[in-house]
Amino acid sequence: MDLLIPDKVHDESRQGEALVLEPVGKNNGRKLYIESYGCAMNFSDSEIVASILAEKGFETTSDFNTADVIFINTCSIRENAEVRVRNRLKEFAGAKFRNPGMVVGVLGCMAERLKAKFLEEEKLVDVVVGPDAYRDLPNLIDQVDSGQRAVNVLLSREETYADISPVRLNSNGINAFVSIMRGCDNMCSFCVVPFTRGRERSRDAYSVVAECKDLFDKGYREVTLLGQNVDSYKWSRTVAESGEALSVGDEIKVVNFANLLEMVALVSPELRVRFSTSHPKDITDEVLHTIAKYDNICNYIHLPVQSGNSRILDIMNRTYDREWYMNRIDAIRSIIPDCAISTDIITGFCTETEEEHNDSVTMMDYVKYDFAYMFKYSERPGTLAAKRYADDIPEEVKQRRLAQIVAKQQQYSLYRMQARIGKIEKVLIEGFSKKSDKDYCGRSDQNAMVIFPVSEDYKPGQYVNVLVERTTSATLIGTIV
Ligand code: 5AD
Ligand code: SF4
Repeated sequence: MDLLIPDKVHDESRQGEALVLEPVGKNNGRKLYIESYGCAMNFSDSEIVASILAEKGFETTSDFNTADVIFINTCSIRENAEVRVRNRLKEFAGAKFRNPGMVVGVLGCMAERLKAKFLEEEKLVDVVVGPDAYRDLPNLIDQVDSGQRAVNVLLSREETYADISPVRLNSNGINAFVSIMRGCDNMCSFCVVPFTRGRERSRDAYSVVAECKDLFDKGYREVTLLGQNVDSYKWSRTVAESGEALSVGDEIKVVNFANLLEMVALVSPELRVRFSTSHPKDITDEVLHTIAKYDNICNYIHLPVQSGNSRILDIMNRTYDREWYMNRIDAIRSIIPDCAISTDIITGFCTETEEEHNDSVTMMDYVKYDFAYMFKYSERPGTLAAKRYADDIPEEVKQRRLAQIVAKQQQYSLYRMQARIGKIEKVLIEGFSKKSDKDYCGRSDQNAMVIFPVSEDYKPGQYVNVLVERTTSATLIGTIV
């Protein structure tokens, strides 16, 4: 089992969530059920898919038994993510048996990884569609209706779905994810993403800002800019994008991630801006200074280390070493003094010795992370590591190392939370707490969950100052001041 401390980008509680929208007027009499697994990018993609099919008159349903089309948007990051999807498909078999006209489609990373093989392995599946082919879904459904099975797993160098405004009607109306780029060019040796999501490409900066502005006008107060590696965001208006040739003297504007952050921060000081994920090799001081300059860019950076040992980092193909990572941490601490930092760590990567594992432990001591996602290495077919190195660390050793770092992280999470006691946090109210409608919950600037008694004077979507009185290792508890 992977152990993780939840935050919003890989939210365990959302895995398998179904997306439900209000009808948009057109109606073709068919119902779509779509559920999602994996990272926030996948959840965001499901909103794009729903938007494409809503245009064609599909209504959404939260009950797959009554659906005409079932889509499952899948993740391949670790083997257990795929096992979960296979099990879920078995549960759809009964519904398809009762309604043979039902279309069952597999979308996302697992579709891309397995391609047409999926149709051989899972007889129930009619359509297999990769992450860059969602515009083709209406055609693919037509093909299935005419009695064929359909596959489109073409990856694209251009597709960013920039012009499709995702529908977000089952959200809380306060926080939204905005995808700013797709794909990944990093080739970390353990990672399947470059194979499932293709080459990295950045979305039109002006379409990102327009979407954030539209969200703000609709009452949203927090956007999280999403990409596999946001620090390598780079977009320029080219002839193809503007549709007309540039003439002499035209300004060619290149927008990097620091520029984009600033453009989004300027939408309104009342709009909080978050982002994920940063890469230690690419995060620049310019980005850190931009975060420091704007109050509404949150002081929280997710900076996956993966390992604290330079040899392991090298064979992971992370292209930085222990000292480089520590230097980036020092830069964050000096430029943004009150910044929360979280990370991802993998235990038991190929050939990792006890001493090398211990370097990950001492890295945790150095940074004292606010949160961490911690995983056992899971070999993924086709990756560089699968080709080059034996997955030679026994399961019990991986598990023991994982348990050790999870215990350590619990101490540091508690340490970071306790340091907030007696402080006043600016909290964006998201709604009632899960446990009681007498309490509100929301997040601090540093991304900590804060719980406090409801006050008649404030509503979800407003900011309040909360004096922190107590804490658990995951939540701050206080009162509005
Ligand atoms: N095994 C274990 N963890 C992995 N991750 C990515 N690939 C693997 C793998 N093969 C983890 C990394 C990454 C996070 C999203 O998932 O820590 O940052
Ligand atoms: Fe997201 Fe990676 Fe899983 Fe694909 S494989 S859904 S990119 S976490």
